[in-house]
Amino acid sequence: MPLIKTKKELELQLSLAKQKGSLGLVPTMGALHQGHVSLVAKANSENTTTVVTIFVNPTQFDNKEDLDKYPSTLKTDLALLEKISKEIIIFAPIASEIYGEEITSQTYDFGGLDEVMEGAFRDRHFEGVGTIVEKLLTLVGPNRAYFGEKDFQQLQIIKKLVSLRNIPVEIIGCPIVRELTGLAMSSRNERLSSSLRKEAAFIYKTLLSAKNEFGTKSAKIVTEWVEDQFEKHTDLELEYFSITDIEKLRPVQRKRPNTKYRGFIAVYAKDVRLIDNIALN
Ligand code: PAJ
Repeated sequence: MPLIKTKKELELQLSLAKQKGSLGLVPTMGALHQGHVSLVAKANSENTTTVVTIFVNPTQFDNKEDLDKYPSTLKTDLALLEKISKEIIIFAPIASEIYGEEITSQTYDFGGLDEVMEGAFRDRHFEGVGTIVEKLLTLVGPNRAYFGEKDFQQLQIIKKLVSLRNIPVEIIGCPIVRELTGLAMSSRNERLSSSLRKEAAFIYKTLLSAKNEFGTKSAKIVTEWVEDQFEKHTDLELEYFSITDIEKLRPVQRKRPNTKYRGFIAVYAKDVRLIDNIALN
């Protein structure tokens, strides 16, 4: 299976692949799990060639410790990808190959999408995400690129990025893959003790109840109810729960007809930060 580390090698492989047909791109930061696998499998079923990038992007981390702690499991990542197809092109560059000498992010006007939730709690996070995704889309030039709804705000921002920069690619959102307990799969789950991992199932359980409540109650009441639930938990600390429309991601004041809403949550399980979200209607 081709593992590529330089842009030069990648360009060579891509020119061959593009002659064969369509190209699907799945950007990742590695430490792959079944959530990533679902994206790669979908890309692989919808395109002639699939490119998976594995790159822990420094500019999207506002916390150096979080970046340093980010797991690196290249060998098992490759084995996991090989099970899907031996033809997948894997691009795992070092930072200088992508950024040159200056590891900085660009500035974007995402129209406020980046000012709420993850954007409000993680300084310049989405500028970093935008920068790397723009670089990868430009470098690979895929027909389709696949992103998980696990990071729903990121998905909407990438759609915005593509329209801002007129990048000719179809952005495809993929459903959240969960562990048996309901906990959304994440590379960070590996950092939870086994008892905390079980407890963290409470996050999705609460989202499901919130969805139920949202049928008859106001966003404000549902939000307060969720906040109350976490008050009772010592090991799970709620950072935010927010109900927004799915297009502009604006916190809902009053429910409107013909509008789709989602509930977004960020929780600290001891020192591990977990996010999740759910369609509410
Ligand atoms: P990473 O966290 O590695 O995730 C890569 C892709 O997998 C993202 O599109 C993410 O939404 C998706 N994903 C993660 N967990 C998932 C799950 N449980 N179910 C479905 N999809 C899931 O997101 C990033 O990397 C980075 O920000 C990146 C886009 C690669 C830019 O650096």
